[in-house]
Amino acid sequence: MTSLGMMITLVVLVAAIVYSKATVFPRPSADENNSNYWLKMGTEEIEAALLKPKLTNTAKNVILFMGDGMGITVNTVSRIYKGQKKNGYSGEEGHLVWEKFPNIALLKTYDLDMQVSDSASAGAAYLCGVKANYYTVGVNGHVKFNDCEASLIEENRLTSILQWAQEAKKDTGFITTTQVTHASVAAAYAKSANRKWQCDKKMKKFGQGAAACKDIARQLVEDVPGKHIKVVMGGGRQEMGSPKRDEIEDNCKRTDGRNLVRDWISQKEENGKSYAYVTTTRELHSVDTNNTEYILGLFDEIHLPYETDRDTSLDGCPHIKEMVEVAINRLKRSDNGFFLFVEGGMIDNALHITSPKRALEEVLAFEEAVELALTMVNTEETLVIVTADHSHVMTMNGYPPRGNDILGIVTESEDISDGLPFTTLTFANGHGFNYSFNGKEVVRPNLTGVDTTDKDYVPLAGMPTHYDYETHGGEDVAAFAVGPWAHLFHRVHEQTHVAYVMAYASCTGPYKDCHHHAERPFNEQVKKNPKSDSSSATGLFSGIIFIFIVAVQILFV
Ligand SMILES: *[C@@H]1O[C@H](CO)[C@@H](O)[C@H](O)[C@H]1NC(C)=O
Ligand SMILES: *[C@@H]1O[C@H](CO)[C@@H](O)[C@H](O)[C@H]1NC(C)=O
Ligand SMILES: *[C@@H]1O[C@H](CO)[C@@H](O)[C@H](O)[C@H]1NC(C)=O
Ligand SMILES: *[C@@H]1O[C@H](CO)[C@@H](O)[C@H](O)[C@H]1NC(C)=O
Ligand SMILES: [Zn+2]
Repeated sequence: MTSLGMMITLVVLVAAIVYSKATVFPRPSADENNSNYWLKMGTEEIEAALLKPKLTNTAKNVILFMGDGMGITVNTVSRIYKGQKKNGYSGEEGHLVWEKFPNIALLKTYDLDMQVSDSASAGAAYLCGVKANYYTVGVNGHVKFNDCEASLIEENRLTSILQWAQEAKKDTGFITTTQVTHASVAAAYAKSANRKWQCDKKMKKFGQGAAACKDIARQLVEDVPGKHIKVVMGGGRQEMGSPKRDEIEDNCKRTDGRNLVRDWISQKEENGKSYAYVTTTRELHSVDTNNTEYILGLFDEIHLPYETDRDTSLDGCPHIKEMVEVAINRLKRSDNGFFLFVEGGMIDNALHITSPKRALEEVLAFEEAVELALTMVNTEETLVIVTADHSHVMTMNGYPPRGNDILGIVTESEDISDGLPFTTLTFANGHGFNYSFNGKEVVRPNLTGVDTTDKDYVPLAGMPTHYDYETHGGEDVAAFAVGPWAHLFHRVHEQTHVAYVMAYASCTGPYKDCHHHAERPFNEQVKKNPKSDSSSATGLFSGIIFIFIVAVQILFV
């Protein structure tokens, strides 16, 4: 071998060793080895639970944050990723902002005809309070997929928490990182037998029957409650017939020649309303939220870019938290309160293409948006919920050592019989299906030397799918809540429970008469000491438990 050849071999070998030895992040606390560390934490959490107020005043505002596809595994993995990325710590001991909310429940996500739901039928559950069929938007179970005719029957059409809020004279808004006509947000304002009917072109495919129905984009601009929504932000200029770039792939190009953005603007002008239509971060920042009634932000032709790929300049597309800031500044001017729906929609898309790093970055961006919102509202008068619509089939497997890079590999395992390194994160299905036959047996790729932390790395999948078709998962999702009536999230519920808690807490929709709440204006209610609601018996009981815990602590120390 020449010396150059040797040198190259050496470099390759060193690189392989660097990559195949996964990063292990340190634990932040040296006390974890001590039993008392855990007792102290236990006691603090019991104390917090005992002192937890039950807010029974009417929620002036409701903010629903929904991470599309943000199942429980994604939640755990994001928590670890956050700690490793932000602090350089092992991560498992950390938490996401919503994990400190006082109340949590699990939600059953099946829909009427599938064990595993899609975002549209899930949207009907948590936004409208009714379970529906797969791929249908804002209609009940009498409407089968593609049945335009049934979707036009009045009794089959659902109303959502967004509409209930409007009927209670609250201002409303939604934000998504997907198209503004995409399944989740569409369930808040549209009714459609097929979630793909985002523009007229997709409807033509289904012949005469569908022609009687209206596409989702038109419903947003022409119908109630869509046309009364004060803040609409996301992607989807193509569906709205107002693309800036024509060369973009054809997701749903309008064929009716309508420019729905122009129509939206004319409508506001005819009604003498102030408005802002914005398409870049710079324009978003320039919106005078104190003097603008309606805001429409369309920041890309189809979906917004992934956080890992976003143009972060002022000419690019805003971070989800920038959209939330503008939306809340506008909506909180409403004397009667507001309802805001924020969807972290690209979490789902990143998982469909089985790109864990992209998905985790989407969750952390979404988390920043939740964190910011909490600084802008008072949770004594604002119910804040963080949930997901359904899960995905990513799993966290093997026995990675504590602090192992969550995007990295596990090199030593007694359980994996082929002796090859494997990634902690793998998928039950996806386009990363990659087994081959070596003449003797079926083998999977040897990950030695592969950088699995790259955003483009595709982990192994058990079953093959097309490029972006990794499927949803069917286990329960969590709902985390803080604010008035958050304690109504208390066990395993049907996903429909979310819609009813939001309505009950804010006295809207089916609970608009609200006899169960004190009939006092919001401001007076929030002045009331929330703790005064718990009975003296509970107080006494808390006191006894507290003394008991202190006594136990003293004994153990
Ligand atoms: C806990 O104890 C083990 C066993 O002695 C030791 O290897 C480890 O470093 C200790 N952890 C910390 C954080 O001190
Ligand atoms: C909008 O109005 C609020 C309340 O009156 C005020 O605090 C805030 O500074 C105003 N914002 C701008 C940008 O003028
Ligand atoms: C499949 O594995 C081989 C190595 O065995 C690798 O070169 C290839 O890029 C992998 N393909 C996919 C789609 O992951
Ligand atoms: C995987 O690849 C590395 C580096 O080429 C090699 O040392 C190792 O033996 C391989 N493992 C198996 C089980 O083939
Ligand atoms: Zn999906």
